[in-house]
Amino acid sequence: MTDSITLAGTQLLTWRRQQLARGGAAADLDWLIDLAGGVPWTSLQRLLLDPSRTIVMVQSLEVLAELWERHLHENVPLQHLVGLCPWRDLLLETSPAALIPRQETELLVDLALSQFKAAPPARWADLGTGSGAIAVSLARTWPSASGHGVDLSPDALRLAERNLQRCAPNHNCSLHLGSWWTPLRRWWANLDLVISNPPYIPIDVVHGLEAVVRDHEPHLALSGGEDGLDAIRAVVDGASVGLAPGGWLLLEHHHDQSGLVLQLMRDAGLVEVSAAADLEGTLRFAVARQPSARS
Ligand SMILES: C[S@@+](CC[C@H](N)C(=O)[O-])C[C@H]1O[C@@H](n2cnc3c(N)ncnc32)[C@H](O)[C@@H]1O
Repeated sequence: MTDSITLAGTQLLTWRRQQLARGGAAADLDWLIDLAGGVPWTSLQRLLLDPSRTIVMVQSLEVLAELWERHLHENVPLQHLVGLCPWRDLLLETSPAALIPRQETELLVDLALSQFKAAPPARWADLGTGSGAIAVSLARTWPSASGHGVDLSPDALRLAERNLQRCAPNHNCSLHLGSWWTPLRRWWANLDLVISNPPYIPIDVVHGLEAVVRDHEPHLALSGGEDGLDAIRAVVDGASVGLAPGGWLLLEHHHDQSGLVLQLMRDAGLVEVSAAADLEGTLRFAVARQPSARS
């Protein structure tokens, strides 16, 4: 990052037109101008209406042009180039070690919060925590609850730890290296909420993804095996021993897996099984509950 740079608004607008002529989407370039250049989207809109304004930037146009070039020609995600990603009310650090948090996963957190409107869970876990996006949100919302994040990737866990420090410095969330429920054995039957956005894309589909995802995001975070359900099966299978009586399991899944995931949950003995949709109306989430001790 350089000292702030003041330039005529017309200079930025001319530069923006030149970059767009090289390719790419205006929304992506404006994201880069915002996150790396320090010019918020609202300021850019004001400038488009009144190009006589001056603009203060935190990065030179030459550096931004290099980043845009790498995005266009090497398909590097902008979030990796900038190292940051806005998500919910957070600005998370990103790295190639973990999935870039997606917008739909914000709704998974909303679902969790709505299940525990009356009182926070005493103990929760985020299986496959990656960047820690979900864990950070829960740790900030429920500071008195005891949280756990699990991942099989040591590098992802290091990123999650940095995001916890950065966004929830007083957090009460511990991170564990290992596979799904295994590192949480000590808390089995005591977890009131387990949330997971596991890898769920069928491997053949992974191979056909756009290069910006396929070549730059970890396959450990994307691939759910042949039918996409390997990780979901493992998470659902563990629920009957891992969840507390009456505890909730909340999962994100692929756009065409709702029926199969709900059936896996019922087969595992979970109750109150239901589906929830993303903002486009596609069923992308599955919710279920461990029977309570009385049922
Ligand atoms: C789809 S990403 C989700 C990351 C983050 N929770 C989010 O929503 O952005 C899935 C995560 O599961 C992790 N993972 C894959 N296999 C795992 C396993 N067997 N046990 C624990 N985590 C695993 C990956 O490393 C990755 O971080």
